[in-house]
Amino acid sequence: MAPRTQIFEDRPSDEAIAGFRAGMAPFWHPVMESAALTEAPSPVELLGRRLVLARFDGAVHVFPDTCAHFQAQLSLGKVVVVDGKPALQCPYHGWAFGADGRCARIPQLPEGRAIPAAADIPAFRAREAYGLIWVCLEAEATFDLPPFPEYDDDTFRKVRLAEPEDTATSSTRMIMGTLDDTHFPWVHEGILGDQDHPEPPDHEVWREGSQLVLRYEAEQPAGLFNGGAGNGSVKLLYTDYVGMPNVIRLVKDSPGGRYVIWLATCPLDWNRTRNFWIFARNYDMAPERDATFTEMAAHVRMQDKPIIESQRPWLLPPFWSKVELPIRPGDLPLIQYQKWLEELGIVTAI
Ligand code: FES
Ligand SMILES: [Fe+2]
Repeated sequence: MAPRTQIFEDRPSDEAIAGFRAGMAPFWHPVMESAALTEAPSPVELLGRRLVLARFDGAVHVFPDTCAHFQAQLSLGKVVVVDGKPALQCPYHGWAFGADGRCARIPQLPEGRAIPAAADIPAFRAREAYGLIWVCLEAEATFDLPPFPEYDDDTFRKVRLAEPEDTATSSTRMIMGTLDDTHFPWVHEGILGDQDHPEPPDHEVWREGSQLVLRYEAEQPAGLFNGGAGNGSVKLLYTDYVGMPNVIRLVKDSPGGRYVIWLATCPLDWNRTRNFWIFARNYDMAPERDATFTEMAAHVRMQDKPIIESQRPWLLPPFWSKVELPIRPGDLPLIQYQKWLEELGIVTAI
């Protein structure tokens, strides 16, 4: 039999890219930290589209970042008031668009002539949660945002990790890489694993509403992420929740306390992902300890990044292509995640 390994250096097929963009569209995606959007409009990218966010009337509004007139970038403009209502004004010729995307003013229009309907632009849905702005490109989202109980729980200390650059991978590979536990001894030896014990844990995997849930016990080196300081190893219970398809929350319980890793990924496009991380802990709570936790989290992150960015094809290949070789039972959680992605129409072609 010929060796199975193929080379996938190039971009995925147009069909695979279109499938990914369309499949991911009916979900809430995080695009920006809430605090970063002030009164100035801001450009963001989501699934290959350029969008503009503008905060007015006490809410965040999202439009294509392209004017209906001569397609200048609306995020270079500003929020103004037209007939007593706020509107986003294009920097080029001053056309202005209200909250619903309706064109509210065309300064060059002759007196008495109505604004044509073709001047309107679409308005997408936005919401704010967990300190982030989320956008859905379709009228109905398939799933609501997954719960994050530690976020509003004061018995947990939270730190955010802002990454200096985007990750050159797909959002689905990013989530799969965070769900994967059999890489711990290889990529994070001494922190999350031990190469003398590479055997996978016994996973329990099931679906709960919009989430894929994974539970297993593990023994890992004692330390920051495993209940605090210490030598030797510690027994942990992991419960991982994937908010399909783009959010993951890893809950690690040890005798020392609970450590939670929360990641929301923004699919900028098929090959670029922006990560928003929050880490929560209910031990070692002193604020001055935050820097130690974020430095260590950034270190672990940098161990993962080159590996995840090295994976080809860029997009997860469907099972029928037989490109992957998942090994049961260790890879069961990854199989279940990908299976659900295929059901949702996100992984369709290679
Ligand atoms: S391009 Fe926007 S007003 Fe002309
Ligand atoms: Fe990792």
